[in-house]
Amino acid sequence: MEKRSDISGFHGLSVEKRLDFVREFAGLSDEECDIVKKTGALDIDTANRMIENVVGTSHLPLGIATNFRINGRDYLIPMAIDEPSVVAAASYAAKLARPKGGFTTSSDESVMIGQIQLLNIKDFDAAKRNILEKKDEITAIANEKDPVLLKYGGGVKDIEIRIIDSERGKMLIVHLLVNVSDAMGANAVNTMAEWISPRLEELSGGDARLRIISNLATKRLARARAVWDKEELAKSVKGMEIKGEKVVDYILDAYHFALVDQYRCATHNKGVMNGIDAVVIATGNDFRAVEAGAHSYAARDGRYTSLTKYEKDSDGNLVGEIELPVAVGTVGGAININPVAKIALKILGVKTARELSEVIASVGLAQNFAALRALATEGIQSGHMKLHAKNIAAIAGAKGSLIDEVANRLVKEKNIKVDRAKEILKELG
Ligand code: MEV
Repeated sequence: MEKRSDISGFHGLSVEKRLDFVREFAGLSDEECDIVKKTGALDIDTANRMIENVVGTSHLPLGIATNFRINGRDYLIPMAIDEPSVVAAASYAAKLARPKGGFTTSSDESVMIGQIQLLNIKDFDAAKRNILEKKDEITAIANEKDPVLLKYGGGVKDIEIRIIDSERGKMLIVHLLVNVSDAMGANAVNTMAEWISPRLEELSGGDARLRIISNLATKRLARARAVWDKEELAKSVKGMEIKGEKVVDYILDAYHFALVDQYRCATHNKGVMNGIDAVVIATGNDFRAVEAGAHSYAARDGRYTSLTKYEKDSDGNLVGEIELPVAVGTVGGAININPVAKIALKILGVKTARELSEVIASVGLAQNFAALRALATEGIQSGHMKLHAKNIAAIAGAKGSLIDEVANRLVKEKNIKVDRAKEILKELG
C-alpha cells in the first residue's frame, strides 16, 4: 500500500502515537525509536510545548571555547555545533589575540525594525505626512501592547517611512523602530506591528498587508576588534618556515580574495557563522534570524562582501574587525524554556543582550581569523582529520583508549578509512 504523509489529526496524537506512526511509515526499529525518545536535558513534555508534532529531541555537542578575553574580562564560551575543529579554532584564535589584549567591542541599542506594508495608497505625500505628524500617537498605541518592555526602558523609539517601487506598483513601508531591550524582540515587534496597522490604514488611506519584523537589523549592530601580534602569528605556524610579517601578509591575501570573489566570500562568511551560530544555538537564540541578518548585511551595498575587515597596523601586526547585526536575547523565547540555554548564559555570565551580541561578534571574528590563518599557511585538513580519525576509529569498533591509538595511526598514515581502522584494530588485537 502507498504510504501517505497526509495523516489527519497527527498534531492531536500523543508523542508515543506520533512516533508509532513514524515507525510504521519509515520502518524504524525499536532501537531507533528508543534513540529518538532519549531526550536528554530537554524533557519530552517541554519539547512538546515548544513546537508541533514532536516525537523526540535532536542533540548537538556542547563545547566550551576557552581563552576569550573581551573588554578586559575573561569569558568561557559555550558553543553548540557538530563540526570538528570549530571550538578548537575559536579557542586558538582567542589565545593568539591575548598578548595584544584580546577583543574590544561595541554595540548599538537593541533596536529592531518592524515593517508594515501599506498598499493601494492614492496620495503618497499626504500619507507620509499624516503618519509622521501622528508619530507620538502611533508610538503610544504601539507601546500599549507591551507594558513590560516599557518598564525596562524599551518600546517604540522612532518611526520611518520608505516609499518603494515594485512591479506591482508603489508601496509605502512604515518602519517601527522598537527598542526590545534584552529580548530578541520578534514577538514584541510583530505584535506591535499588527496592533498599529488599523491606525496606519486610517492615516494613509491604504491597506496594511505584511506586518512583520525585518531580520536585517541594521539598528542593532555589534562590533568587535582584535590585534594579532605578527611575531606570535609567525610562531603559530607549524611545519613551515615563515618569519615576521609574512603570516600577516598571507592572511591579508586571503581576506582580499574574499573581497573580490563571491565564491570565496560565501565560504569566508560561512566560517564567521560557524562561530556565531554555535553560540546563538547554545544560548537558545534564533540562528536563522542571525544568519539572515548577517548575509543581508554583507550584501547591503548591492554586492555580497566580507563581514570582517583586516589591515596591518604601523608595527606590522594584523588588525581584525567585524560588524554585523546580532539580534539575540537573554530573555524570552526558547531561552527561558531550554534548560541548557539558561546554563549556557550562566557560563557566559552576560548581563544584557547587548553584551551577548558583542561576545558573539568576537567569536565570529575569532573563527574567521582562525580559518584564514590556517588556510593561508598549513591548511585546515590536518586539524580536521584528527577528530575525524577518532570518529572513524569508533565506527570501526575501537573503544576507550584504543580510539586514540587507532586514530593516531590513521592520521600518521594519512589514510583515514574505516577499513584501515579495522585492520589496525585487529593488529592491536
Ligand atoms: C569550514 O566550516 C569553514 C571554512 O571553510 C571557512 C573558510 O574557508 O574561511 C574553513
